[in-house]
Amino acid sequence: MTSQAAILTRKELFLRACRGESVPRVPVWIMRQAGRYLSEYREIRAKHAFLEVCKTPDLAVEVSLQPFRRLGVDAVIVFSDILIPAEAMGLELELGDAGPNLPQPVRTKAEIEKLKLFDPETETGFLPEAIRRIARAVGPDVPVLGFAAAPWTLACYMVAGKTKEGFVTAKSFLHHEPRTFRDLLHKIAQATIPYLKAQIAAGASAVQLFDTWCGELNLTEYEEFALPAVQEVISGLGDAVPVIYYTKASTHLLPAVARSGAHVLSVDWRVNLGELRKSLGPAIALQGNVDPAVLLGPAEKIRSVTLETISALRGQGHILNLGHGILQHTPAENAKLFVEAGQQATPQATKMAMQSR
Ligand code: CP3
Repeated sequence: MTSQAAILTRKELFLRACRGESVPRVPVWIMRQAGRYLSEYREIRAKHAFLEVCKTPDLAVEVSLQPFRRLGVDAVIVFSDILIPAEAMGLELELGDAGPNLPQPVRTKAEIEKLKLFDPETETGFLPEAIRRIARAVGPDVPVLGFAAAPWTLACYMVAGKTKEGFVTAKSFLHHEPRTFRDLLHKIAQATIPYLKAQIAAGASAVQLFDTWCGELNLTEYEEFALPAVQEVISGLGDAVPVIYYTKASTHLLPAVARSGAHVLSVDWRVNLGELRKSLGPAIALQGNVDPAVLLGPAEKIRSVTLETISALRGQGHILNLGHGILQHTPAENAKLFVEAGQQATPQATKMAMQSR
């Protein structure tokens, strides 16, 4: 590792990468890094329900810090869920072992009108409070990340009620009543802006928008519905902190995704990072994109895929991560191996090593 890497704090590394700058080593964290693959997380979950952990700052702080202690990741994402704002907007929310459930989904104009814009400090105060405590615990050198769903992905859950293959109910709503569906996306965007601003005010160094289901849309639908709502959120945040925009299965959408206004695009393993950089240019940083299945092993494969991923961008404007959340049955030691392989790689040397093979 170069001496510069030793001098730069984790937060400086992270923010430099977000700005598209060159870094002596890539910062690394893992989507869903706090979760059931960690025994210490399962211990807490044996005693407390999922939503109780989200809503109790002591517990949320503890599980947010678990992957920082165990894996030494370069960023701590606050423990919460993308569906928390749905509840604050007035929908009942259950998060059981079968995944999320909203027993009263929104299907009509009247139901959308009833959704509330909420004050995040009073209605979801546990989240900024958890961020303040995490920031205090890790100190100024470590970036804390806030997050929210992108409007389309939250709308999918609000309309479908639960994770549904293809989210056909949401798409059908969009086709039958495009104006009403746009009202829903706009309302979600308007709720999301203060929700993220509260997280930034509490100490988040960057925020991530999760658009897990945008790949269900074709390019025209994405540009007409999902994209304007994401742009509304990102422009509403101003330039206070970098915005990372995660999209999954979005290869057909990427030129449009790049117009979101996000500083960093987080993509899955279907995307070739080097080619994406060539087509978008150096101004937009990239995050990702190791397939979570690679972390199931073997160790040699984890190392080689990690180095290949780093070599694609040579340490310029790159945050190393997975292409989607870590899988529940991942051995924690494999997650650690991924983080360490990423942190020990010097991007330029990695490129040369790959070329000489
Ligand atoms: O990254 C982190 O460590 C922060 C925490 C986080 C969770 N969910 C915790 C969680 C984040 C960033 C999310 C985002 C989220 N939630 C997304 C977008 C990213 C993605 O994975 O696609 C989505 C679609 C959800 C909705 C959601 N929450 C689903 C579909 C599920 C059930 C699936 C599952 O993995 O169990 C959840 C529950 C959930 N959210 C868990 C965790 C750790 C598991 C709950 C448990 O402990 O039992």
